[in-house]
Amino acid sequence: MTREEIIKKHKQYLFPSISLYYTDPLVTDHASMQYLWDVDGKKYLDFFGGIVTISVGHCNPRVTSKIKAQIDKIQHASTVFPNEAVVALAEKLAQITPGEISQSFVTNSGTEANETAIQLARIHTGRYEVVALRHAYSGRSALAQSLTGHSTWRRSLPVPAQGIVHALNPYCYRCPLGKTYPDCGVACAKDVEAVIQTTTSGQIAAFIAEPIQGVGGFITPPKEYFKIVFKIVKDYGGEFIADEVQTGWGRTGKRWFGIEQWEVTPDIITSAKGMANGTPVGVTMTRPEIAASFKGLQISTFGGNPVTSVAAKATIEVIEQDRLRDNAYDVGNYYRQGLEALKDKHDLIGDVRGMGLMQAIEFVKDRTSKEPAAQETNQFMEECRKRGLLVGKGGLYGNVIRTSPPLNISKADVDDAIRVMDESLTTMAPALAVSSSRTR
Ligand SMILES: Cc1ncc(COP(=O)(O)O)c(C=O)c1O
Repeated sequence: MTREEIIKKHKQYLFPSISLYYTDPLVTDHASMQYLWDVDGKKYLDFFGGIVTISVGHCNPRVTSKIKAQIDKIQHASTVFPNEAVVALAEKLAQITPGEISQSFVTNSGTEANETAIQLARIHTGRYEVVALRHAYSGRSALAQSLTGHSTWRRSLPVPAQGIVHALNPYCYRCPLGKTYPDCGVACAKDVEAVIQTTTSGQIAAFIAEPIQGVGGFITPPKEYFKIVFKIVKDYGGEFIADEVQTGWGRTGKRWFGIEQWEVTPDIITSAKGMANGTPVGVTMTRPEIAASFKGLQISTFGGNPVTSVAAKATIEVIEQDRLRDNAYDVGNYYRQGLEALKDKHDLIGDVRGMGLMQAIEFVKDRTSKEPAAQETNQFMEECRKRGLLVGKGGLYGNVIRTSPPLNISKADVDDAIRVMDESLTTMAPALAVSSSRTR
């Protein structure tokens, strides 16, 4: 098929709700490690990694060789028969998860992982109410959309699931309380208690949060935030669920899971995305006494599929063997310095945030008013694309550039990305100056 045919058939045969990046959509052809090629043969440095999913490089042969071998051996037999691939994965997960978390329920997506976690917390506690955070993204089922704290991602939800309330999120750049860190005393964390006291029965089943809010635009909390919240959640008898769909598997540097950066040991961890380097998998992990709470029958036909299980274990092993958590820390810090330098040079950048190889820049029309620059964000993406760099987007206002390259990129890749970003911002600057003088 030609590029035009693919785009035409995409419009004709797929749901229009599947939104595409770029005015002229990029039709992918093949990819290898940090690079991706479109059907016209243009090569891109991929700094979004299939939405925070390519952990160890596209089509990493150390992962794909294991997938290929497994496909030829046995591809599927369902969860009613044990298989070596899934138990080996679950054993590996038990070794790397914090605290006493040692049992897993494997599914196919982050949405399912979060559904499973909420159901489990409710059954285990015998309670119903759940506290989530504003600006969170939890997935696309009715329950996961109801946990989500973005109107943009909830529009197709006629009636939200009951028993979910949303506390303020730790968005320091746009503090929901109008305060400034550290003088604020992390007042947003204390809001979790006020929410429990005023909008629930005071007896919660769970609190769920992303250690760094992903779709929200890599909103990174102050270091004390989760410790304070954890204590509140425990005081009110809830289970603490860390949604590590974006922050897991070394993405934030040094540690396996983002929540470990905040020195909190959760009761339940959910994940997906980067866990299997692009093979569909979701997982809910917890302590045995919580896992034992599920009553009746449970099945996920494809959950724990041998092919996805070997892909996940191989991905985790590459991260371990190549010390990619350290690389994410070192190259991530180097990258962060480059982004901060761009901020010093270009007024469009209002904030730089994130951790490890999960870094974002928030665009504003004016640094004082912080008016979101959504159109400029799209323009920046187009300019980067022209120069062979792929970046992602996020944030409630669509004005945050999200970057999450593979964990095995080098400083030379960072130099290439920063150069393209700088050129793109420089190209945009005269047009921005004209448009702001017109609005004055
Ligand atoms: C933090 C978080 N949780 C859950 C999900 C849902 O995952 P999936 O799209 O695999 O269902 C996402 C997806 O972006 C996510 O970022």
